[in-house]
Amino acid sequence: RPVLVLNGPNLGRLGSREPDVYGAQTFEDLSALCREAGRELGLSVEVRQTDDEAELVGWIHEAADTRTPVVLNPAAFTHYSYALRDAIAQRTAPLVEVHISNPNARETFRHTSVVAAVATGTIAGFGLRSYELALRAIADTGE
Ligand code: DQA
Repeated sequence: RPVLVLNGPNLGRLGSREPDVYGAQTFEDLSALCREAGRELGLSVEVRQTDDEAELVGWIHEAADTRTPVVLNPAAFTHYSYALRDAIAQRTAPLVEVHISNPNARETFRHTSVVAAVATGTIAGFGLRSYELALRAIADTGE
């Protein structure tokens, strides 16, 4: 069963980006980890990243049209993109919001997620393992 793992702005820079917050593993490492976790769970995982809000919204539309489950790290869009929220509200399959860090333990502006209320659920604060846990949650829903 296909699953999309979608990543928002600056996540392509994992490994060099604030390694004290996001760790030393690269986006390629993250992609490999997701594909491997997917294999073990019987999911065919495709990983994408964009810095472009319009492109990310388009991918959410694509998932809605094809009833594809999504693991989404909206990155900074989490905190202010009503366009992303409105796209997610059209979902036709489970969508899990993930974060590498725990935004609630960080700056105040990160305490608000404008997408959480339209996601199936949220997993945050477990490093790259947040993605693995989200894929497991999707595998377990069986939808
Ligand atoms: C993040 C948390 C966001 O606040 C931040 O803007 C990111 C990454 C995370 O995975 O911890 O870019 O979504």
